[in-house]
Amino acid sequence: MSPTHSSTKGDGIDENTAFSDCPDAAVQAIKLQLSRLRAAKSICILTGAGISAESGIPTFRDKQTGLWENYRAEELANIAAFERDPKTVWSWYQWRRQLVQDKLPNPAHYALAQWQAWAGTQGQNIDLVTQNVDDLHETAGSEVIHLHGHLWQNKCSQCELTFEEDVDYANNELLRCEACAGYVRPNIVWFGEGLPQKEWQAAELAAKNCAVFISIGTSSLVYPAAGLAQLAKQHGAYIIEINLNPTQSAVVDSVLAGKAGEIIPALVAQLIT
Ligand code: APR
Repeated sequence: MSPTHSSTKGDGIDENTAFSDCPDAAVQAIKLQLSRLRAAKSICILTGAGISAESGIPTFRDKQTGLWENYRAEELANIAAFERDPKTVWSWYQWRRQLVQDKLPNPAHYALAQWQAWAGTQGQNIDLVTQNVDDLHETAGSEVIHLHGHLWQNKCSQCELTFEEDVDYANNELLRCEACAGYVRPNIVWFGEGLPQKEWQAAELAAKNCAVFISIGTSSLVYPAAGLAQLAKQHGAYIIEINLNPTQSAVVDSVLAGKAGEIIPALVAQLIT
């Protein structure tokens, strides 16, 4: 818990409540961004695995523990790996599904949803773009552009027919497509595959049109998503990064260092009160 930062405001809202879990340096950094964020007509937010870390979902590039600690995401999330060893890749996704299925949005997801809805009533547009496949932004109530697909959907690896029906996540047996007998795979964008066109175009447009671009909980290593901040910058946007271990990216103008689940609720509480 951080110490006292400021006094109670005249309207009866205690700023200390909003900032109570926020590191001191982040509190000062948040205050510096408020007028810019209030004035922006359009804001584009890109989230990565770090925003779901406090929901208990492991990120991809922070140290892994347990069953899959000897594997890297890049080794499993690609079509060559699936063609070579579909059972291992399928088992990894079944394990991730078991891990994620009971996880809930955390205060960062809820605060973004609250901000997005509130901004709409003020004539401000917030486009939320995510690389995450856990659907926790929707569960929290946000409208979201998905760049990397959905953990809960499957598709045929041959004919690309998509499947919405429930799969028993505890069963690692491979499934076959009813139409063409190809192996069933998760409907997730793997390394080396193209992003869904409509979603990517929407994300590019959001990045080009925004006055402020906020990158949250992503290592910014995986393109093309990582290029959105650069695109926004080229079009004149101010770039803010929220990250527990900031990336040192040259395109970032301001860093709010700390946990998304502490920084974002504090930021949003200041903005919408
Ligand atoms: N709050 C804020 N940031 C956090 C937190 C937290 N509580 N915990 C971790 N982070 C940060 C880490 O410092 C790191 O920079 O989140 C980032 C997570 O990075 P990655 O694991 O690389 O996840 P991401 O950037 O989303 O990966 C991109 O790579 O494997 C593929 O398709 C997969 O969508 C994924 C893509």
